[in-house]
Amino acid sequence: MSMKVLVVGGGGREHAIAKALARNDACELYAVMAKKNPGIAGLCKDFLLCKETEVDKVAEYAVKMNIKYAVIGPEAPLAAGLADCLEEKGISCVGPKRLAAQIETDKAFCRNLMREYDIAGCPKYNIFHDPVKAEEFIRNYGGDLAIKPIGLTGGKGVAIMGEHFDKEGAIKYIHEIGGEVVLEERLLGEEFTLMAFVDGEHLVPMPLVQDHKRAFEGDVGPNTGGMGSYTLADHKLPFVKADDYKDAIAIMKDVVASMKKMGNVYKGMLYGQFMITKDGPKVIEFNARFGDPEAMNLLTLLSSDFCNIVEKIASGTLSDADVEFTHKATVCKYIVPEGYPDSPQPNCDIEIGDIGDAVLYYANVVEEGGKLKTQTSRTLAFVGMADTLEDAEKIAEKACQSVSGKIRHRKDIGTVEVLNKRIAHMKEIRQ
Ligand code: AMP
Ligand code: GLY
Repeated sequence: MSMKVLVVGGGGREHAIAKALARNDACELYAVMAKKNPGIAGLCKDFLLCKETEVDKVAEYAVKMNIKYAVIGPEAPLAAGLADCLEEKGISCVGPKRLAAQIETDKAFCRNLMREYDIAGCPKYNIFHDPVKAEEFIRNYGGDLAIKPIGLTGGKGVAIMGEHFDKEGAIKYIHEIGGEVVLEERLLGEEFTLMAFVDGEHLVPMPLVQDHKRAFEGDVGPNTGGMGSYTLADHKLPFVKADDYKDAIAIMKDVVASMKKMGNVYKGMLYGQFMITKDGPKVIEFNARFGDPEAMNLLTLLSSDFCNIVEKIASGTLSDADVEFTHKATVCKYIVPEGYPDSPQPNCDIEIGDIGDAVLYYANVVEEGGKLKTQTSRTLAFVGMADTLEDAEKIAEKACQSVSGKIRHRKDIGTVEVLNKRIAHMKEIRQ
């Protein structure tokens, strides 16, 4: 019997979700996306072009198509209560309901949850609703701070004193964004992503990933949604010690247990972004969904049946045995329009050449008259998978080089040089 699954979202992450689901022949795929992603459209029996946040329209479509399960990719529909609406109509969602999604959509909620339930890894923080009070705090604070708008910003609203600006610049920024902020101690260390499948109670972790948020090589320039990411064959990262890893898992489990206790049962993917500091792992943030690009690494690696995982999440019966990943390294590199993220060049033709062994995921790109055209966000991604990081990087890089047009990518992602730099940085921090 076929299993009707709806994928919500039209980016690279959702293409990876669709592709992983489609590996099961029994899966009949449907999608809702704002623009037609050529990769997703090619895998679906039918799709609706509509904003993912138009909850009623999405739900109406899901009911009409007799959908059984929905996998929700981006955060915006979660914030708009799509999971609540679909669940009401008897459609099981991989993606939390609105109140549980606050773990991502409301940074003050996230920090207060950690404080209230005494969850480890929470940096020192203060919440403000008034720019004058926030300014006063900054003026009197001895060190550097991370400045985080409370609501969703597409990953681009956080700014760090000592990195993006000095004290006066920070104060100016606070006034620009209106003073609804969390100010927290600036952490120093290396970042990594730990994602897990969660069925409301059980948490099954995925391999560790490192994303690259900065726009340009050498980790400089503005923050982006993520320019690329890598994983290693042992599913760990060499600068994350065994104890740090255990602590990070415990933090994630505590979050799931606390959410349940407070009545906001959490189902879906939980994304933990951590910074390894000299005092162990600290939480930068949680997301209520797969990371993008991280999902492309992990769903390429996933060797077990994603449809089965979806069913188990829905029924609350997920166990470690349901989730396996191939022991290979992966490197994911995003191709982005020239000028991204500040002034991206949309509507430019691109052509994909010989991509060798790489896996292609379409993202914010449209097909017109048989030609692919850039939009304003990340265009497409390539994943290389191999026994070693070096080989995986070569596969992804070769595929990126094959693309012509007004686009660019970060050549340094997944290189051994960058990995060694991370290891050396962490050594320095721990001294
Ligand atoms: P976020 O949108 O919360 O993921 O933050 C974007 C980026 O800001 C992160 O990837 C970190 O590099 C940086 N960041 C966030 N919080 C902190 C912090 N407390 N200390 C240092 N850097 C931070
Ligand atoms: N790669 C970062 C994110 O998905 O938020």
